[in-house]
Amino acid sequence: MKIKTICCIGAGYVGGPTMAVIAQKCPHIKVIVVDINESRIAAWNDNDLNKLPVFEPGLDKIVEEARGRNLFFSTNVDQAIDEADMIFISVNTPTKTYGKGKGMAADLKYIELCARQIARVAKQDKIVVEKSTLPVRTASAIKNILDHTGNGVQFQILSNPEFLAEGTAVEDLLMPDRVLIGGDTSEAGKVAIQSLVDVYANWIPKERILTTNVWSSELSKLTANAFLAQRVSSINAMSVICEKTGADIDEVSKAIGMDSRIGSKFLKASVGFGGSCFQKDILNLVYIAKSYGLNEVADYWEQVIIMNDYQKNRFSDNIITKLYNTVSGKKITFLGWAFKKDTNDTRESPAIKVADNLLSEQAHIEVYDPKVTEERIYADLEYLNTRTNEENRSLLKVQNNPYNATQNSHAIAVLTEWDEFKTFDWQKIYDNMLKPAFVFDGRGILNTAELEKIGFICYKLGSGTRI
Ligand code: NAD
Ligand code: UDX
Repeated sequence: MKIKTICCIGAGYVGGPTMAVIAQKCPHIKVIVVDINESRIAAWNDNDLNKLPVFEPGLDKIVEEARGRNLFFSTNVDQAIDEADMIFISVNTPTKTYGKGKGMAADLKYIELCARQIARVAKQDKIVVEKSTLPVRTASAIKNILDHTGNGVQFQILSNPEFLAEGTAVEDLLMPDRVLIGGDTSEAGKVAIQSLVDVYANWIPKERILTTNVWSSELSKLTANAFLAQRVSSINAMSVICEKTGADIDEVSKAIGMDSRIGSKFLKASVGFGGSCFQKDILNLVYIAKSYGLNEVADYWEQVIIMNDYQKNRFSDNIITKLYNTVSGKKITFLGWAFKKDTNDTRESPAIKVADNLLSEQAHIEVYDPKVTEERIYADLEYLNTRTNEENRSLLKVQNNPYNATQNSHAIAVLTEWDEFKTFDWQKIYDNMLKPAFVFDGRGILNTAELEKIGFICYKLGSGTRI
């Protein structure tokens, strides 16, 4: 079946960039991205490309090329479903905050609402593609809803998880390591799989397009994120040992990463992993394991999260200890709030937990992040509900200039690895800080030897030389 029109429900960090790239690479396919969030759709349609709701390097150019040609952003979900041969579901699947599985299971209410809406609207056969990350066997629930509430039309369900990482989304979409498509093994299932293979084959080499059964595809996504997060927690666990023994985590990472069986990527010690995926997907995996009575498996993966929480708390504890056991009334500057560089996304950013811990010790924080807005930062703190909004606003200030943010500070904490931090005038920063001037590098990006020559007292995560 040749796909002429694609609809994508959910214009977020995945739906927006993914569909923009499909539209750019497939000018013969009409791509309509829909969302119930009106302001998000308005931002995707804004003539000022700086106002796109998702910041990703290179995305503005792609949107500029395809938007209005074969890429459309709309709030008219019904119309887009009706028009499309293939419907991607790319809505959020957050951790449940209520009821059974609270704090662990994925909340599938948005997925179910989409399935019911597709069933209600569709008058012709459709291929429904799970783009969101879902627990293994969700496709059977979607199929059930579609078959029992639909208008008698045929649906094929495919699983096509997205492996892009934020900050490199465009690059990852243009040149993915692989595209994974899971589908039914029936003849109709094979036809549906082939339709989606044909879409990707417009720019991706065929040998990188992998097809599997639906359950393998769904589970591979959770597995990939669990393995990646596990590497970060493993190296972070070693960073503590480095600090105690005088070893250096960057040297250890390099030494083990040169073993081709281990590989060099994803071995950068940090203040902890963040982002909307790792924690949510591992908790989901833990929940699935528990629901099958596989407690040892559940415990094994849960340690990845426990280690990550430890790393975040350890970082703020260390700041307090080194600032003579009190940060009350002291000004601490945060460089970075995003969960990683080159994104404006702050979901599960370690900066939030570190700030919350320090604010509870009555520190005054000033934040500088090149892409994250002031409203976002306050919203992140308000969501925790640790203190009133007024208290958050009086204890934490947001600055749009790093030199103002560091003026009269007792300490600087690097929470995100933005490249520009390396090129600051550190002498000027030092001159304007209170002494002794401390730097806590939670991302291991600064040249601490140079900073120490200026006069800073530096604490580099995972380096045993000063801690
Ligand atoms: P997001 O929150 O940025 O976007 C989801 C969008 O879906 C929101 O704009 C929301 O308004 C919309 N939505 C929800 N219900 C809707 C409905 N019924 N009709 C229309 N629109 C609806 O989320 P995201 O980061 O894009 O993630 C989406 C999915 O992709 C999740 O399952 C996530 O786990 C997965 N994923 C995310 C990433 C990532 O880097 N963010 C990477 C791979 C996979
Ligand atoms: C992740 C997966 O990489 C991606 O394949 C999936 O589709 C979505 O989840 P993302 O969360 O966007 O992507 O970014 P990623 O680069 O994986 O980083 C996640 C977190 O781990 C960030 O906070 C990052 O700073 C941290 N990290 C990553 C480290 O601390 N050290 C590393 O070596 C790598």
